[in-house]
Amino acid sequence: MDLKKTMNLSWDEFDELRDPRPDQNGFDAVVERAISRRGFLGGALAFGSATAVFGAGVMGSATSARAQAAGFAFKPIGIATDFEIHVPEGYAWKPLVRWGDALFSEAKDAYSPETGVAVEMSDKVFGENTDGMETFTVEGHTLLAINSEYANPEINLPAASEGIPQTADEVQLLKNIQGVTVLEIADQGEGWAVVVDSPYNRRITHETQMTMDGPVAGHDLVKTKADPEGKSPKGTMNNCGSGKTLWGTYLTCEENFNGYFGATGDYEKTDGFLRYGIGDEARYAYEKFDPRFDLSAEPNEPNRHGWVTEINPADPKSVPVKHSALGRFKHENAEMVQAADGRIVVYMGDDERGEFLYRYVSNGTWAEGQPTDGLLSDGTLYVAKFNDDMSGEWLALTPETTGMSMEEILVFSRMAGSKVGATTMDRPEWVAANPLRVEAYCALTNNKNRGVKPNAGGDATPATGPNPRETNNYGQIVRWRPTGEDHGAEGFTWDLFVMAGNPEVYDNVYGGSENVTAGNMFNSPDGMAFSSDGMLWIQTDGDDSNEGDFAGQGNNQMLVGNPETGEIARFLTAPNGAEVTGLTWSPDGKTAFVGIQHPGGSWPDGAGKPRSAVIAVWREDGAMFG
Ligand code: FEO
Ligand code: CA
Ligand code: CA
Repeated sequence: MDLKKTMNLSWDEFDELRDPRPDQNGFDAVVERAISRRGFLGGALAFGSATAVFGAGVMGSATSARAQAAGFAFKPIGIATDFEIHVPEGYAWKPLVRWGDALFSEAKDAYSPETGVAVEMSDKVFGENTDGMETFTVEGHTLLAINSEYANPEINLPAASEGIPQTADEVQLLKNIQGVTVLEIADQGEGWAVVVDSPYNRRITHETQMTMDGPVAGHDLVKTKADPEGKSPKGTMNNCGSGKTLWGTYLTCEENFNGYFGATGDYEKTDGFLRYGIGDEARYAYEKFDPRFDLSAEPNEPNRHGWVTEINPADPKSVPVKHSALGRFKHENAEMVQAADGRIVVYMGDDERGEFLYRYVSNGTWAEGQPTDGLLSDGTLYVAKFNDDMSGEWLALTPETTGMSMEEILVFSRMAGSKVGATTMDRPEWVAANPLRVEAYCALTNNKNRGVKPNAGGDATPATGPNPRETNNYGQIVRWRPTGEDHGAEGFTWDLFVMAGNPEVYDNVYGGSENVTAGNMFNSPDGMAFSSDGMLWIQTDGDDSNEGDFAGQGNNQMLVGNPETGEIARFLTAPNGAEVTGLTWSPDGKTAFVGIQHPGGSWPDGAGKPRSAVIAVWREDGAMFG
């Protein structure tokens, strides 16, 4: 693979390069078949009036005050195609922290618009390409834990040829500006700002020492020369979405970890490597300067990545823990809720075309103030099966159901999911659970291979169930309600909250569901979070060309959906080139923190190179956000 060509690809394009789709996809026939199903879609999936699907009794309870009122508390905005942020009238925003901003005063002038940050200061500044984040209150201090998903070498390595690392120092720099940042923020009368030199400020990088717990810890599959015991992996990488435990710690989710490994010599192309897209050259040439990332030297190192990792933001000296019991795949986020009997439930998507939606359920139960030991290391991993009759079930991944050992099930969860016949999904991104009702939502961002090509394990991808459109370039959001209003139940019913599309271009299923209009349309839902009032915030990471199938959709955006009525309104538009990803709120609920990743132009500085940043957004009248 030509590293120069791969460096600028999106992560899903990178996977596609390793596992290309057939030349012929019969697009016309595909669209025709989809149109012929419109009768089914229009009838069974009653968008915007979920009562038709679930019955009035199910829909009735726990309606928030605002959901009962018509519309939203702001005037929705139009699309944008410029390099600015736009929010509704009566709202204001400012950058809270940009990549390269100092966490410690010694790094005060570390960032330069021409050269970025020098390697010596690269783990003392806020990381690049902000993603999932959560807010914590620790002894009166407000802390944010924020992922830095990946690096843009062309921006950060101006001296290197076309952004390809040429030295060990340049690799070190890229390792340092990814990972996780914990930082303190405070509002001292002029809005929220970073508390430089706070004792809580911390960078966790591709080099940080971690531990592993659960069944895989100490197993042969995770032993390396540097760690013959297989219990002390180093680094967390490609940290995408996030989660927050009920006991106040941070969950960071390792997504496209496969792209960091390459080979300088011979290595065995195992089924595991093929299913996870591991092989050949790494995206950032790590393997050329660090044998840990060289498959011909350390074939087990990739097995130590692709986990959900827990970080305690309250203790800057705490050692992060990789939880093997939650399975290994391209983790998007980790949404924790509780079963009726007190067991811990974590919903997790595996973001690749045709991969699965997972659920972990602990064996132990928990209540406020009780110990948390074992809650994320002792339990059962499940995959979702969605039926066409709008029912579904969670299939347990056990040695009995898969014929694999427990350690193999967890390291190669995708293969275990295939064995039990899990439903291939349109790239499961964030899962968000409604705080006011026992239901959860998953953004299925898009899947151009739906109905065209199997997943990397050879599982068929028919256009059925919650993935109803072949060559799905727009995406949809599925929601499910567990049987008996219990997240611990084995069964559920489902519907589609929204099917994105372009009603100006298509008069068929590609026009989207009934709650998509010319005024609120978007593509590729990705980040999602509920505000405490039960509103679903939706962030997009899609095609922002504003042309062809995407004409009239403008830049990526953040919208809010009302779960009761199905209404959706556009709240924020990002600078062209950016995706919107990561959302959390100040403890008083008056300010939202929103992540702007890989912006274009010169945003937000107005000159020089663009910088990813977290912005603060608030209502100018001081009322609650929303
Ligand atoms: Fe990092 Fe699937 O988004
Ligand atoms: Ca994402
Ligand atoms: Ca995405």
